[in-house]
Amino acid sequence: MCKAGTAPMIAPSILSADFANLAAEAAAVANAGPTRADWLHVDVMDAHFVPNLTLGLPVVESILRSTDIPIDCHLMIEDPARWAPPYAEAGAYNVTFHAEATDDPIGVARDIKAAGAKAGLSLKPGTALEPYLEILKSFDTLLIMSVEPGFGGQKFMPEVLAKARAIRKYIDAEELQLLVEIDGGINADTIEEAAEAGIDCFVAGSAVYGKGDPGDAIAALRAQATAAQERVAG
Ligand code: DX5
Ligand code: ZN
Repeated sequence: MCKAGTAPMIAPSILSADFANLAAEAAAVANAGPTRADWLHVDVMDAHFVPNLTLGLPVVESILRSTDIPIDCHLMIEDPARWAPPYAEAGAYNVTFHAEATDDPIGVARDIKAAGAKAGLSLKPGTALEPYLEILKSFDTLLIMSVEPGFGGQKFMPEVLAKARAIRKYIDAEELQLLVEIDGGINADTIEEAAEAGIDCFVAGSAVYGKGDPGDAIAALRAQATAAQERVAG
């Protein structure tokens, strides 16, 4: 079991929200108190890097105008060197791209940060962590995918938690400033094992927007993650 770096953060994924009512859906997770999301996770898909198409920069700009919640952009796109920095310029808080989509992750991270956002690196479930350890000092966040990217509502892949444990160890040993996110299949049944593995920030789409009140779902997930972290801390 591994101690996370911060109090657990919850980032609802707008992918499971009603795309015709994005401002209202953002507002639903922006109330003050324990029902407030820490970040709003926005999945950008280009139908090339993943077999699905969602939304792009103009929609992200509209979301940014509609809410004060920090926007966590997850770019599942080809050619992030060209397309990622504009999301930072638009005002996204964190801009994450995929390691598998570029030969120059350090250069993309530099451009995102120069444009004013935090930079994130994402790894698909089958992508090993080890080849990227050395470059993580260029990043603010690491997003571990716990489903194949492309669709909400998929089943959590517990085998990726080995990556979470390994990066937590590395962060502690190297004293890295790196926030670790997990994305895919996070819900009441899976968030505790992810928290025990040392995850800081939990993306949840269908578990927040899929049923009932989104704020209540956030508070419940956060309480579970906090309890799991406290068990690890002893
Ligand atoms: C999938 C996206 C996720 C997705 C998660 O490729 O990156 O952010 O919205 O949805 P759930 O939480 O339903 O698995
Ligand atoms: Zn995502």
